[in-house]
Amino acid sequence: MLKTPKYKKPQESYVETNHLVLPSHANALGTIFGGVVMSWIDIAAAISAQRYSKRVSVTASVDALHFIAPMLVGDSVNIKAKVVFTGRTSMIVFVEVTSEKILTGEKKQCVTAHLSMVALDLKKEPAPVPKLLLTTKAEKEAFSRAAERRAFLLSQLKNP
Ligand SMILES: CC(C)(COP(=O)(O)OP(=O)(O)OC[C@H]1O[C@@H](n2cnc3c(N)ncnc32)[C@H](O)[C@@H]1OP(=O)(O)O)[C@@H](O)C(=O)NCCC(=O)NCCS
Repeated sequence: MLKTPKYKKPQESYVETNHLVLPSHANALGTIFGGVVMSWIDIAAAISAQRYSKRVSVTASVDALHFIAPMLVGDSVNIKAKVVFTGRTSMIVFVEVTSEKILTGEKKQCVTAHLSMVALDLKKEPAPVPKLLLTTKAEKEAFSRAAERRAFLLSQLKNP
């Protein structure tokens, strides 16, 4: 196991992946199945959390996943993921999905989501993660929003 620093910048968790929407990803309307995008989102969030914590990290919950616009067969799909909040062993990763019409370059925001990821040790027990070093106003605002979201989520867990 690599020795990890006590603090890390959000940027150290940054992940970007690209995909092409194929006919096998699509429904009868020629737009992508939600489950396919969710799987790409989950993978990007897992890489981001693991890159940040340097530990195997599992998805504990997916929150506020919004399908804002459809993605069509032939579109290029860009996924950006970044840790925006850390607890003791958990991290909230914000994921943004954008489509691009490759021939025209037209881009559209299609999905946003927050995923809670938990870092595990070799015994598969939750393990501490570095704290976030927040330097910009945007990072501080994203942290506050995620903290509020997490408080609500955990209260729902107690009273499902
Ligand atoms: C996620 C998991 C490891 C948490 O285990 P646990 O025994 O509840 O651990 P704890 O109560 O110590 O909680 C650990 C952290 O997870 C957070 N957490 C637990 N359940 C959560 C949930 N549903 N949503 C968000 N955060 C959650 C806790 O708040 C705590 O955060 P903190 O340390 O930053 O304060 C466990 O529930 C699990 O293994 N779930 C299945 C994960 C999985 O298989 N995912 C799909 C495939 S990757």
